Amino acid sequence: MANAKRIAPNILVTGTPGVGKSTLCQKLVELTGLRWIEISKVAKENECIEEWDHEYQCGVLDEDKLMDGLEDTMANGGNIVDYHSCEFFPERWFDIVFVLRVDNTILYDRLTSRGYIGRKLEDNIDCEIFQTILEEAQSSYKKEIVHELQNRNLEDLENNLQRICLWLQQWFE
Ligand SMILES: Nc1ncnc2c1ncn2[C@@H]1O[C@H](COP(=O)(O)OP(=O)(O)OP(=O)(O)O)[C@@H](O)[C@H]1O
Ligand SMILES: [Mg+2]
Repeated sequence: MANAKRIAPNILVTGTPGVGKSTLCQKLVELTGLRWIEISKVAKENECIEEWDHEYQCGVLDEDKLMDGLEDTMANGGNIVDYHSCEFFPERWFDIVFVLRVDNTILYDRLTSRGYIGRKLEDNIDCEIFQTILEEAQSSYKKEIVHELQNRNLEDLENNLQRICLWLQQWFE
């Protein structure tokens, strides 16, 4: 009974960089009042970045330190965790996992308008084409709690929010 003591469920929102995780989480927080844990931000604030990856221009996480720091918060429940990877979180933390997806042409536009170029751009597009994060989620969590959500446009976003809110309502009942 991993969630026996939780006052509210924990949700994981994952997917390739640029699929829209933070946009969705921001809206979810407004609608539900759950706590948004943006892992990249939390890692920085708590000095859980081990080194800087120059090629990808991003920090390399000290995963153990980060996990230790989050353990109590996650045990209480009521969190939405937002990160572009998911295999290193403890499986027991999450009641449901959403993997956001987008067509690679749309992702290409979103990432280039963010200034991504070269290897970083190509690798992220490949990551989406090969559905790397979906497979990572499916191999890290029980299949029945992993849900793929298309997030190409505002209509998709609206549907995704509705779906998650409905699931939440049912959890509380
Ligand atoms: N449903 C959507 N429809 C159209 N544009 C969207 C949608 N969701 C997000 N976007 C846009 O896509 C871009 C990337 O979104 P966002 O920053 O939320 O992605 P992310 O998954 O959090 O990325 P990262 O992993 O790098 O943090 C932003 O410009 C955002 O406005
Ligand atoms: Mg984000």
